Parts: sequence; C-alpha cells; structure tokens
Amino acid sequence: MWPLSLAVFLTTALGTSALSAGCGNTTSPSLTSGGTGSSNKLHFTTSTGTHRTYYLHIPTDYDINTPTPLIFSFHGRDANGLDQESNTGLSETYLNPSMFVVYPDGLNGQWQGDPAATDYDDVAFVLELLVALSDDFCVDEQRVYSSGFSNGAGFSLNILACDEIASTKIAAFMGASAAAYQGNNSDKDCEPETVGIPCTPGRTGIPILETHGGADDTIDYHGGPRRNSCLPSIPHFMTAWAERNGLTSGNVSRASHGGKVETYRFEGEDETGLVESWWVEGMGHEWPWASAGCHINASPIAMSFFGNYTLDGVRG
Ligand SMILES: *[C@@H]1O[C@H](CO)[C@@H](O)[C@H](O)[C@H]1NC(C)=O
Ligand SMILES: *[C@@H]1O[C@H](CO)[C@@H](O)[C@H](O)[C@H]1NC(C)=O
Ligand SMILES: *[C@@H]1O[C@H](CO)[C@@H](O)[C@H](O)[C@H]1NC(C)=O
Ligand SMILES: *[C@@H]1O[C@H](CO)[C@@H](O)[C@H](O)[C@H]1NC(C)=O
Repeated sequence: MWPLSLAVFLTTALGTSALSAGCGNTTSPSLTSGGTGSSNKLHFTTSTGTHRTYYLHIPTDYDINTPTPLIFSFHGRDANGLDQESNTGLSETYLNPSMFVVYPDGLNGQWQGDPAATDYDDVAFVLELLVALSDDFCVDEQRVYSSGFSNGAGFSLNILACDEIASTKIAAFMGASAAAYQGNNSDKDCEPETVGIPCTPGRTGIPILETHGGADDTIDYHGGPRRNSCLPSIPHFMTAWAERNGLTSGNVSRASHGGKVETYRFEGEDETGLVESWWVEGMGHEWPWASAGCHINASPIAMSFFGNYTLDGVRG
C-alpha cells in the first residue's frame, strides 16, 4: 500500500502518470471485469448520508500496480448508468482497452444543472466517489476524465468543468447533445447568443469537447428558452470556454463526411485544440453512434480526445 504522501509520479512513454493511494490494493474477488453488461453495480454513501449507486467497468487487463485512467460517463435525463453503458459502448475493449469507466445513476434520473434538480450536490458526490475509488484501486490521478449525454453532458461541461475543485481533479471534459441550462426563471428574456454563463474553474486551459446534431429538437444547437431556463447556443457556450481558456483567436473549422460534419477547433499555443465543437447535419438528440444519420461515433472521438490530455496538460 502506498501512503498518500508517497504517491509518486511516473514518467512513461505515455507521459506523466500519478499513482493513487489504492495502487497495490488487492481487488475484491467479487468484482468482475469485461465488456458491456460486466460492470459492477456498487453502492456509495456520501458524507451527507445520501445513498448513491453506480456501475464500475473494470478493464480486463487491469493490474493493481499500474496507474489506470478513469472516465466518468453521465447518463441523460430519465435514464441510468446501465443505459449509458449500452448507449456509449465505452466498456467495449475495442473502444476502450484499458480505462475504468464509472457510470453513476442520477438521483431521480437527473443531474445537477437540470432546472428540476434543485439542491443537488452531484459535484460533491463525484469528488467523494473519486477519492473512494482512488483509495480502492490503482487510479491514474493525472488521467481522470468526464463525459456525458444531454443533462449528463451539461453536468460534465457546464457544472463539473466549471467547479473550482472538480476542474483541478479532472483532466478533460466532453459531452454529447449538452443541455447547459443557465439560470432560473430566465426563459422569458432568454438571449441564447449572449446569456451569461457563470463558470469559475480552478485552472485555465481546460480541454472541452462537445458533439451536437443540427436537427436536435430537444436541445437546439441554437439554444433558446426551455423549461423555465435559458439554453445558450452551442457556439456561444463553446466560445465562452475558449475565452476562459485564453484562446481568443477564433475557431478553425474543418468539414468532413461530405460536408455533413463540421469540426470547430479553438487552438492553443501548443496546437492541441483545447476546445473542440462537432456539428453533425441532420442528427437528432443522441450520443452519436455508428448508425444512420450520425456519421460520427462519439466514443472513439472521446477516447482520442482524452488520450491527448493529462491533468498537467502534457499530451499523451
Ligand atoms: C483496499 O480496498 C478495499 C476494498 O476493495 C478497501 O476496503 C480498503 O480500504 C482498501 N485499503 C486501502 C489501504 O486503501
Ligand atoms: C436555481 O434556484 C435554486 C434555488 O433558489 C438555487 O439553489 C440554484 O443555484 C439556482 N440555479 C441556477 C442555475 O441559478
Ligand atoms: C466558429 O467561428 C465562426 C466564425 O466566427 C462562427 O460563425 C461559428 O459560430 C464558430 N463556431 C463555434 C462552434 O463557435
Ligand atoms: C488527438 O491528438 C491527435 C494528434 O494531434 C489529433 O490528430 C486528434 O485529432 C486529437 N483528438 C481529438 C479528438 O481532438
């Protein structure tokens, strides 16, 4: 067992890794590893006494002495962690050979940031769960990532990434069809291109990636009033992240898939593209998967994106 004070940094061919307190800790024999359907349903009680559940995917090649990256994957509203696992395929070895994936269940099927999720402290839940998992398993604390769909994407990109503490524990954030609600009772005068986006991350240069369908009639790409709140347009939301990250020179766009997919990158000095916005013509409200009308698959995009970043910013 490594006492916390002895947590060491390893420099490998893949960049910097950081061993968590759980490195060397024997894995309980009741836990299973493997693809979709093999994740472990686990329970967690927060410091304020709230009972939570989550699914933990353990990669088949997990080694108790090897710092292993960890991805949080947050489901959409009225769904659960198991739905998120099957909708993303992130537990499949061919997509994700070696990272943990945590698929938590939202309370009442929703996440902090949703207009109906008043008084939720899902940020505290995620931070406490991360500490607990890092104590039990060999987690690479330089490579913890966040992803989600719809309300779960809004939680990832608009709540966790904006949090002073969570933004210093999680290396990169992505989301598909993000619902980034701003404020309460603000739908009457909602200006999606200019609505204020309060956000106070604890570091700068936070990698952010979003995918969105041009035919999303649940969370419109152009934003607007919804459920007594205001959705920013995706360009406004992403530009605000670029400005926060100090990327002021505008985006570089690239068309692919016969012009049906447009990727807007706001690039930094190291040309790694810290903020990336994917628009897909004709696609509805979904986690893009290799089905008709999607053109792209968000899961390999997320894996590629996460693989490019560590908490200290070093490219993978
Ligand atoms: C090792 O993991 C077990 C659960 O698998 C946990 O109860 C225990 O606290 C961990 N030990 C240390 C020293 O972190
Ligand atoms: C909405 O109102 C609740 C209750 O007053 C408050 O806790 C919450 O922070 C508000 N949410 C936003 C996004 O302003
Ligand atoms: C990229 O820049 C163009 C030109 O300023 C703008 O029209 C577009 O909305 C931007 N895209 C995003 C996703 O911000
Ligand atoms: C990750 O970095 C590689 C190499 O620069 C780049 O080609 C790729 O587009 C990046 N991935 C994403 C999703 O931005």
